[in-house]
Formats: sequence, C-alpha cells, structure tokens
Amino acid sequence: MKSIYINDFVSNGINVNSAHVYKLKQDFREHLAPIPDSPDNGLFDDLVGQSKLVKELKQIIRKIAVVNSPVLIVGETGTGKELIARSLHKLSGTSGPFVAMNCGGIAPSLIQSELFGYEKGAFTGALCRKKGFIEAAQNGTLFFDEIGELPLDQQSNLLRFLQEGSIQRVGSVDNIRINTRIIAATNVDLEKAIKTGTFRADLFYRLNVLEIKMPTLRERTEDIQILANHFLNRYSIEFNKKIDGFSLECLHHMKEYNWPGNIRELMNRIKRAAILCDTSLLTTDNLGIPHSTMVSKPHSLKSARDIAEKQAIESTLYQCDKNITQTSKYLGISRAMLYRLIKKHELNF
Ligand SMILES: Nc1ncnc2c1ncn2[C@@H]1O[C@H](COP(=O)(O)OP(=O)(O)O)[C@@H](O)[C@H]1O
Ligand SMILES: [Mg+2]
Repeated sequence: MKSIYINDFVSNGINVNSAHVYKLKQDFREHLAPIPDSPDNGLFDDLVGQSKLVKELKQIIRKIAVVNSPVLIVGETGTGKELIARSLHKLSGTSGPFVAMNCGGIAPSLIQSELFGYEKGAFTGALCRKKGFIEAAQNGTLFFDEIGELPLDQQSNLLRFLQEGSIQRVGSVDNIRINTRIIAATNVDLEKAIKTGTFRADLFYRLNVLEIKMPTLRERTEDIQILANHFLNRYSIEFNKKIDGFSLECLHHMKEYNWPGNIRELMNRIKRAAILCDTSLLTTDNLGIPHSTMVSKPHSLKSARDIAEKQAIESTLYQCDKNITQTSKYLGISRAMLYRLIKKHELNF
C-alpha cells in the first residue's frame, strides 16, 4: 500500500498510511499548530539528547501523543522504542495504565490467554478468572514490543480486536468493550515479513497508521557524550564510585564505534565499567570497545576473522543483556557453540 505523507510531518520522519488517512488528516489539523521550541517542563526528563534528531523526535511525540490512533515505532534494538512508547503514554493524558507485552517473550501456546484473559475452568490450570493484557490496559496504553514475533494465528486474533474494539476472555462468550491506545514496536522489517508470509498485511496497515522511525546512535553521534555522562552519573551514584569522566581517547573511540546495540549497549558497557573501574577516568579498555574500527596494522585473514568474530559476539551479548539464549539466536549458533566462543575469546562474562 502506498504511503501518503502529511506535509508537516515529512521532515520529521513520520508518515501516515492511506487506510486511515482521511480521518486522521482531520484529527491532525486540530493539533498541527506550530509548537514553540519551549522548555520540556520535565516531560522528557528520561529522554536524554540534544541532537537535531532528538529534538524532532520530541516534537513528533508531542504532536501525536494526543491523537488516539495506533502508532508503530520502528528501529534497531536499543534505540529507545519502549522509552518513546512510555513518553507517548505519559503525554496522552489517559487515566489508565501503560501495559507492555513482549510478543517474543511468551510461549506461543500461552499468548491467547495472556492477551485476552480467561475464565475460571476455561482450561486445565485456569483456577480463577484472569484479565489479559488487553483488558489490563483499559483506558490506558497497550504496548506490543517486538510485534513481528507474534505468531500468525494470534495476529488474526489481535486484528479482530482492533477492528471490533472488544474482546472475549477464553472460555467466555461475553463481549467486553475495550478503550485503549495501541502502540507497537519492531526491530524487523515488517514489510519484508509480509512478503515472506510471516506477518499479516492487514494487521500491518492497522498498526502502521502513524510511524515513528528511531534514529540509531551512529546517526546522532553528537549525543554520545551527553548520554555517556548521563549513564556514568547514574552508575557512579548507584555503585558509590568516584569517577570523574572519560579519557579523551575513550571519548574519541566512543564516537568512532558503530554501536550495533545502540543506547542499551552504551548503557550496559558504562554500567559494567563503572562497577569494575578503580581509576578516576574511564578508558577505552574499561568500556571494552574496539580501539579503532580500522585495522591498524596488516592482519592475516584468519586474525581479521577472529577480531570480527570476537566483536560480533561481544556486542551481541551486550545488546541482549548477556542472555545466552537470545544471543545465540541472533548470532545463528547453538548455545554450546556460544559458550565455546566466549571461552576461546576470553570474553568477560
Ligand atoms: N534518549 C535516551 N535517553 C536515556 N536513556 C535512553 C534513551 N533511549 C533509550 N534509553 C535507555 O536505553 C535502554 C534501551 O531502550 P529501549 O526503549 O528498551 O530500547 P528498544 O525498545 O528500542 O530496544 C533503556 O534502558 C532506556 O531507558
Ligand atoms: Mg524493546
């Protein structure tokens, strides 16, 4: 389906899809008045950054927070998708809770009862009535993290709910009306997933009414130092360490590094360094980032492969918060092989 861009939002990286465009254009008009570059008044305290991309992001959030329509947040892992979803909820002024569901983190056989809830006796083990994620988000925001991992049969069930605005608990025929804002996030290309048959096109267009593209950390290098200081400050206090900052060489390497795990990786590396470091300045070695993305002296192909292998494993471990199952899944190797490689490269784990 062709995307239609609403002029004011093109430069801000937001697009509005045609399925709902007419109604939305009308909704938006009321909110399109230019927003002065006002101080945040604490609204974005947890969204650190001064780059143009972050300022644009804040503008977008302010504008769409008040429009009750689904939002799809796309971007690499660790770019802050959940943080943005929470900001949208905070600014929307809804009275209900923010409920997050990690679509990849629930066993497929349990998803339906987790999503829709169940009645007592609906199945073996259903000892009492339980609300599902959708019902728990009544009058609030329901955030589907990693929506691309939702199994196809549950995609159909979710679509039905989005179309009808009501649900039935498992084991019940009563319809329950639900009023909740839907936000979904993905780090996979859903349009590609549609082509390979793993994601429903109709669900995609329902969710992708408004799309926010998260910038990677390498696209906002001017924020790296600000974010690094922010996390260092946080962890120095948490672990009661006296660390003054980063060595100049370390700052340089942080800007050179390409941060595949984005802000989450930066945060985790600084946390680990703050725990382990006994000096007043953090160095490149403390952070464990490569000294240079360029190989400085001639290397055999084998040693270049070894370096690349080590970097890929290390950064994926950071991106996955050192979860072995997830890391091996991303790397496409078995858990046993991952343990072997961690040992081989003497990775600090
Ligand atoms: N702009 C930011 N300022 C401060 N912390 C951030 C920012 N963006 C992300 N984070 C932090 O980085 C971590 C990863 O963010 P998250 O929203 O979970 O990413 P994603 O959902 O895209 O994987 C979280 O701990 C989050 O609080
Ligand atoms: Mg996430």
